Amino acid sequence: MKIFADTANVEEIKKINEMGLIDGVTTNPTLVAREGKDWETVEKQICEIVDGPVSAEVTASDSEGMIKQARELSGWADNIVVKIPMTAEGLKAVNVLSKEGIKTNVTLVFSAAQGLLAAKVGATYVSPFLGRLDDIGTSGIELVEKLRQLFDNYGYETEIIAASIRHVQHVEQVALAGCDIATIPGKLIPKLWEHPLTDKGLATFEKDWAEFEQLQKQKGE
Ligand code: E4P
Repeated sequence: MKIFADTANVEEIKKINEMGLIDGVTTNPTLVAREGKDWETVEKQICEIVDGPVSAEVTASDSEGMIKQARELSGWADNIVVKIPMTAEGLKAVNVLSKEGIKTNVTLVFSAAQGLLAAKVGATYVSPFLGRLDDIGTSGIELVEKLRQLFDNYGYETEIIAASIRHVQHVEQVALAGCDIATIPGKLIPKLWEHPLTDKGLATFEKDWAEFEQLQKQKGE
């Protein structure tokens, strides 16, 4: 499963990218606004750091405005993917953009029917929002499972990006469900490699080794 960083923080992206762990990045208006910097500059910086796809979201709400903005955003860098909201206007826009070869990521997907429509109009990616579904007492993971089955049934090439990931279990669950990509908040990514038993085990190994070396030294004296 591919891992994307769900952040617009350039420093965070640099650090994780150095470890060779990320295959792409997703941003949204909230994440960009949080950085308080010029949008175009931030997206271009991210696109230079990361080789893979970088999603930048349109802010227009009508299809004409989305198409115009999408053409502009896709000119910012070769690896820009245009994020389009899952609305009727959004679907109209994706239908046009996919025919132009502009890559799209249909965002704010909360049902299998929405995902099906996005795939039908040629979306490159769909983003089901797990955490926000869990928040209202429904199952985010079930949506990913349904989308997987649906796309496999009909051979849609649209890739599923599990979004709104809140914890490590979400990542494990979507990987087991055959999801193509998980986009994970920058602050959550270290939690994927951290484990208290790893730290505890390592501390024991270090202590035992230090004692052993001390003994060897004493024997040699
Ligand atoms: C990514 O594409 C989404 O915009 C993001 O994962 C949303 O996450 P949130 O529900 O934590 O805001």
